[in-house]
Amino acid sequence: MRKSPKSDKSLQVSTHNILCTRPIAGLDTLQTLLDPHHSLNIEVIDKPLDPKELLVALQGKSGLISMLSDPINKEVIESCPDLKIITNYAVGFNNIDIHTAKEKGIVIGNTPDVLSFSTAETALTLLLNLSRKIPGLTRVVKNGEWKGFEPSLYNGSDLRGKTIAILGPGRIGTEFAKLCKALWNTRVITLKRESLKGDHPFDIVTEEEFFKEADVLSLHMPLNDQSKKLVTLDFIKRFSKPFFLINTARGAICDESDILKALENGLLKGVGLDVTDPEPMSKNSPLLLRDDVIITPHIGSATDKTREEMTRMCLENILSFIQGKPLPYPV
Ligand code: DGY
Repeated sequence: MRKSPKSDKSLQVSTHNILCTRPIAGLDTLQTLLDPHHSLNIEVIDKPLDPKELLVALQGKSGLISMLSDPINKEVIESCPDLKIITNYAVGFNNIDIHTAKEKGIVIGNTPDVLSFSTAETALTLLLNLSRKIPGLTRVVKNGEWKGFEPSLYNGSDLRGKTIAILGPGRIGTEFAKLCKALWNTRVITLKRESLKGDHPFDIVTEEEFFKEADVLSLHMPLNDQSKKLVTLDFIKRFSKPFFLINTARGAICDESDILKALENGLLKGVGLDVTDPEPMSKNSPLLLRDDVIITPHIGSATDKTREEMTRMCLENILSFIQGKPLPYPV
């Protein structure tokens, strides 16, 4: 039905200023999804911002689409009185001071579930590549050092029949466990956790058994006070045999200098990190010189489909907020 000129005159348009800290495909569809009572000004930034720059960019903005690398700390939140909604383009939200944000009445959203499989697949990719020594062996071939078939020189480790240990048996940890079971029908162990109810792929074991049995340790927990710097040399020494360490969660869960010591002392068979502390890591890190280490640039969720879904969820969060509805994907 066409609106009468009278009703057009009475159209009240509220303008919403949104900051998006990286270009994301599909952002421009947001305006088209809104009714004519709302208009959007979206500012897109294309470089990492430190807290001071973020704080400046956020002045006058009511919405923020943030990346997991954006430091949305107490100072940033307290200096941006107009900010009402933050939707993080990630499942993790350790980059946001949730406590202060909630205190200020800011609603927060994230992108759970859609990235669980791709992040689990990243963990599996790291593990397979480590166990078959792919980084070092591709270098051998590229350097022209491949002399021909070798009966034993290039052997990797079997994962079939090995015990995979998981810390953080949530959505991503569960997907990773399912992948390992489907591939090798292997035992996947974890420690007791209240949230583990009903059907799950884990064998719940005691701490003693966990450290005794693990051939692989894959980390899938959020970064918080309990998990920060959990993986130190002392922690690694508790395992009864050398193991592969995989981290697709957050870099700060591991102490990278202790990881290096553990590799040098033969306590770790190999290390696959999709996350480091800081990100990006220093190009001078000694870990980068080792064939038993693979480091990828935080690509857990980096597939076309997953990123599309993450964009959709962020847009739906912003849209719902503007329309006065609860967020579909709240933290
Ligand atoms: C996230 O979104 O928090 C994960 O780090 C994806 O890799």
